[in-house]
Amino acid sequence: MQRMAAIPISSTSIGKKVLMALSSIVLFLYVVGHLVGNLKIFFGPDPFNDYAEWLRVAGSPLFPDEGLLWIARVILLAALFVHVGVYVQLWRQKRRARTVGYRTFDPQVFSWMSRAMMWGGLAILLFVIFHVLHLTTGHITPDPAAGFQRHDPYENIIAGFSLWWVSGIYVIGVLALGMHLYHGLWSGMQTLGMNNPKYNLYRRPAAAVVAIVIAVGYIAIPLGVLFGMVS
Ligand code: HEM
Repeated sequence: MQRMAAIPISSTSIGKKVLMALSSIVLFLYVVGHLVGNLKIFFGPDPFNDYAEWLRVAGSPLFPDEGLLWIARVILLAALFVHVGVYVQLWRQKRRARTVGYRTFDPQVFSWMSRAMMWGGLAILLFVIFHVLHLTTGHITPDPAAGFQRHDPYENIIAGFSLWWVSGIYVIGVLALGMHLYHGLWSGMQTLGMNNPKYNLYRRPAAAVVAIVIAVGYIAIPLGVLFGMVS
């Protein structure tokens, strides 16, 4: 009897989609946790800075300072690499299928939504790079007079978001995130098998509600600073 060679699940199209969905869960949980923490800004400088300090020392004394934070960063970066890396592989696969399979344009292959997901994903990536250089490392100081205060993230946020163009970058980045989440959530639910005719009707509205709540929550912060509700 002829034996079939085992194909690793991650090299199949569906396996790749599952990997993308699983990496999205890690990124999604971070986005939700980060939002909950950041909303503390509406309670004033001390609760916000205490929370930022807690992130630094979480796990102590079992872990050294920033130990757990670095574990979380490594997990986050790994999820990001899987998410982007697998996307690029799927995209190449589709392109190859198109040039080999048909000569005419097939709108199914590069649909409007998959283009929007690609450009939106790229915008989020650029936004996160700007954001980390702005609020984590302090390499970008939009207001040079205020500088970067390593142990006062509250002050860094107020100084940055008081400038309309910095708040503008955050609002655009978060809108891109909201759109990406909306499509990612409902298509991810399908990939992970939540495909029951009884509930399919609710998948899109549920994804829309979650994406809107997250986007509005994040946008409230730069706008809150810009309009003087947080100072
Ligand atoms: C618009 C409101 C936001 C505010 C006020 C905010 C605030 C902050 C602050 C203060 C830090 C630095 C933490 C520290 O090192 O002490 C940070 C880091 C970070 N933020 Fe945000 N953030 C916002 C939106 C976002 C969004 C939408 C994303 C994801 C798409 C994001 C992803 C990150 C990442 C990846 C880091 C680096 C984490 C680390 O290395 O520890 N942030 N954020």
